[in-house]
Amino acid sequence: MMTQPYTHFHPGELWLDDQGVHVNAHGGGILLHEGRYYWHGEHKIAGGAGNSAHVGVHVYSSVDLLNWKDEGIALAVSPDPASEICAGCILERPKVLFNALTRKFVMWFHLELKSQGYGSARCGVAIADRPEGPFQYLESFRPNAGVWPQNVAETDRRPLSPEESAQLKELNLNGGAVPNYPENLIYRRDLDTGQMSRDMTLFQDDDGTAYHVHSAEDNGVLHISQLTPDYLRPAGIYRRYFAGEFNEAPAILKRRSRYYLVSSGCTGWDPNPARSYVADSIWGPWTRLGNPCEGTTEQVETTFHSQGTFLLPAPGKPDAFILMADRWRPADAIDGRYVWLPVEFEGERLVLRWRERWSLDELDSKVM
Ligand code: GAL
Repeated sequence: MMTQPYTHFHPGELWLDDQGVHVNAHGGGILLHEGRYYWHGEHKIAGGAGNSAHVGVHVYSSVDLLNWKDEGIALAVSPDPASEICAGCILERPKVLFNALTRKFVMWFHLELKSQGYGSARCGVAIADRPEGPFQYLESFRPNAGVWPQNVAETDRRPLSPEESAQLKELNLNGGAVPNYPENLIYRRDLDTGQMSRDMTLFQDDDGTAYHVHSAEDNGVLHISQLTPDYLRPAGIYRRYFAGEFNEAPAILKRRSRYYLVSSGCTGWDPNPARSYVADSIWGPWTRLGNPCEGTTEQVETTFHSQGTFLLPAPGKPDAFILMADRWRPADAIDGRYVWLPVEFEGERLVLRWRERWSLDELDSKVM
């Protein structure tokens, strides 16, 4: 088994930290702060029990993205059963930003209250003075209660009729794609309670404005929602995208003033073909670029047996990026693997190809 110091990425292999333990930061994201990288992700335990949260959000730090130091638990779940983030809740896909105005580190994550399956569809927010934490849990909510999406016509800004409510109740919406998905009903149903929020990422633009990008409307529609200047709440400005196309696992990068979005379909822990999009503004219009993966049919159809979680700017190479993805192991969650691959750009397209082993030096001109 390879151990530190690592000189290369080995997608899908065990990846040991400075203690010789497989990194435990699934569904994660990376923050660069004062020259150090911080990887926050879901701490999973062994077995199927590891699919819910029993420990919290783990954080590691590194200067080279290869050799990671265990910095402990950044946000701990609570032993108090009355807490929204009590042990046994589902706490997924944590992402952390540094807010330059408040000088706080702000974490958002997907939260499912204990014993409710994936029905609560909330986002949680926590705050810290240091990237390692400890993060203090603030609250959870469904975003944008009482606010209409900006890209919805006046005529569609209305409550559901009794017939529409009945139509919705008949559908078995369980997070996966359904035929005859009603594209124009669920955001209206959820106006008062706030919009559903499951798989998510945060994206911080060059001007400091940050966005929460999340699967909404029973996963059928992706929402992009601007955050308040302190990053603690939705600013009440949001738009809906790709209605009825069922996107999950969103990740965003910005390169040469263009925005690229990579997502997956909705098949739970099982992998599926990735999707990619490009736009000149975070608000779109987003152009569909199709599946970014190239390789064998199996690799293309399963995104190399993984599902994306973050797009990471490569150190010192302004035009080069790394896709971070998870190879889930739901039967033994702690053994989930990390698939990090260079992002290549070919004309308009963003392309991902399998590499058995690669180093940052190989982010060559093609990649850049
Ligand atoms: C995936 C999602 C994961 C997790 C899982 C549960 O589609 O991306 O974050 O929620 O479903 O089945």
